[in-house]
Order: sequence, then structure tokens, then C-alpha cells
Amino acid sequence: MSSIPMLQLALDYISLAPAIAMATKVAAYVDVIEIGTPLCKAAGMQAVRAIREVCPDKILLADLKTPDVGGLEATMAFDAGADWMTVIGGAPMATVGSALEVARQRGKEVLMELTGVRDIIARAKEWKEIGVERMVYHRGWDEEAFHREWSDDDRTVIRQLIDMGFKITVTGGITVDLLPFFQSLPVSVIIAGRAIHQSKDPAASAREMCSAIHRLWGAPPVMTGASGGSRASVTSAADVAARAVRWGISEMGLTLTVDGRACPGCDGPDRFCQSTVTSIQCPGGVRAADVVQAVTHNFGPGGAVGQASEDAFYLDPAQLDGLSAGRVSDLLMATGNALRQLGCAVDVSAGVGVANRILSAL
Ligand code: 5RP
Repeated sequence: MSSIPMLQLALDYISLAPAIAMATKVAAYVDVIEIGTPLCKAAGMQAVRAIREVCPDKILLADLKTPDVGGLEATMAFDAGADWMTVIGGAPMATVGSALEVARQRGKEVLMELTGVRDIIARAKEWKEIGVERMVYHRGWDEEAFHREWSDDDRTVIRQLIDMGFKITVTGGITVDLLPFFQSLPVSVIIAGRAIHQSKDPAASAREMCSAIHRLWGAPPVMTGASGGSRASVTSAADVAARAVRWGISEMGLTLTVDGRACPGCDGPDRFCQSTVTSIQCPGGVRAADVVQAVTHNFGPGGAVGQASEDAFYLDPAQLDGLSAGRVSDLLMATGNALRQLGCAVDVSAGVGVANRILSAL
């Protein structure tokens, strides 16, 4: 299992058309797409088929929360194109076993949904014996509405389940702000529904969530295209250096200036950073001319830093005389230190740290 949790988009809709539109918009930034329980009930397995059509390369989960006839419902979900389906934790072992049997025959997976299960660890021991590998640890919508907060007790149980060898998905009103709460846990999947599909800009919210997961769990993201289209890999040394600069700069807490387009990620075919130049907004009232002067003073002359506008400057590692990991790292360090000298609170070591991890590919 990767140590970076996968991001799952939950499509909790009651009709198919908006669900398809949302999946299409957001697929580039998520690993798994869930056909939510309301959508399964409203549109049946046709919903799974339709989402499979627009997202041929994503893991699809049918959130059936099956209580009985496990084998039949697993067959229906997998026939329609799902890779994973859920069985509700209160289901009899016979139901869990029949769903698992079908999954095994088809190379698919069953996840136990823990909503409403009180004796989780005792049940988990039984499920382990019959071969369950995945579970969804869930704060239900109704519980959330009745003010159930995520707590240390949740973390303790999740940790126990992981220690027992289960791959754990966490879900239930998860937002970017809640991610640090889970950071100490090597969870397998994080689900976000409303935090993405109810936001003003779902693609931007998904991208932010994906970036935050990679930042918190410790590696730079590699995002895939929405539907398996051709992917422009970031492979040249200049590209890797530019990527390290962008990640380092944003890790310092600075804002990259892009021209309003939604970035599809570093490996997306239409990534906005087709060139190696990264434009950066000057924090708080600082003038770009002063930043450029201070960076040049720290780093030395050359075209790697310049003024983009009155209040934005740019870094272009491709202009470095001798492109090496050390030079790029020094450029970032010089930039962070210059901003600090100008009174800006930037986290230089965090920025240089993440950049160095990316630069190790050089
Ligand atoms: C509700 C669900 C949802 O799919 C799950 O809670 C994720 O949605 P959100 O992030 O909006 O809570 O299974 O029963």
C-alpha cells in the first residue's frame, strides 16, 4: 500500500446528470470515484455504468452499503463496472462472505462500512478471518448533524484497525482543514463529498485537497489525466527544477500567480506551467523590484529571478548557469531569505525541504 492516501470523490446525488458532470470536472484530481448511496438508489447500476464511461481509468466504488443478498449485489456492482463495493457492517457474516466470494472470483474488492457498528474491533476480528481487507470508517451525515465531532477515540480505533492489517478509508464531512487530524495515520483512502461537489469551484477544491494530502503525507503529487488521455510527463531536468520551485514556493506559504486557468497537475497534458517560469505574488505590500534586488544580492546575478509586475516576481531555473539540484535549492533558499529580510513570514526550510525531495529526481 502506498503511504500517500488516495483521494476519493463521493457523488452523493439523486440524479445522474449532475453526477456525470461533476465526475468529468473533478476526475483529474482524484483516484477513486464513488457512486454514492443516494445515487445508487436513485439511478441504480446505470449510474455505475455511466460514470465508468466518462472515467474509464479511475477506481470506481459503488456505495451500496449492502445489508443482505451480498453475492447478488456484488455481482450487480461489478457487472456494471465497479471495482469496489460496500457491505454494511451490521450485515450477517453470510452476506459479507457471499460478497467477498464474488469479489475474489472477479479480482474486485469489498469494503465493510462501519456506520452504526458499535463493537468495531470485535467485528473486525471476525471479518479478518473470512478475508476482509478494507473498511470504511465513517462519521455519518446524521451523526455529524447531531454534532458528532471526530475525536481521539476515532483515531485510536482507526490505528488499531490499521495495526490489524486492514486498509482503512476515512470519511464523513472531511475538509482540507480536517486533514491534519488524520495525518498521523497511514490511512489508505480519504473520501471527500460535499467539500468538493458543494464548493464554488469543485475542481479547485479537489486539487487543493489532493495537494494537501500529498503535502501532509509527505510527497509531491503526480496527478493523472481525467480519462486516460495522453499525458505530458514532467521529465526534463528543467521541468523537474520548475516543479521543485513551484512546490517549494507554495510550501513556503506564497501564492503562485497563474492566469486564472485550473492547473490539471504536473503531469497533465494542459498544465499551465508549460514553460519553466514560475510567477509569484509578493506577500503583503512588498514591491517586486525590492524582492528581485534582494534575491539577486543573496544569490548572485543572472536571469533566474526577475520582475513580472509591480507586485509579482518570477523564478526561472532554466536560466541558471549550470542546472543542478544544489543550484535550484540555493535559488529557493535565497528567495526565501530575501523575503524574510523584507519582513515577510515565509517557511524557508519547509519550502526548501519539499523542493529537495523533488530535486532528488535530477
Ligand atoms: C454518506 C456517505 C458519503 O458518501 C460520505 O460521508 C462522504 O461524503 P461527505 O464528504 O460529504 O461526508 O457515505 O452516507
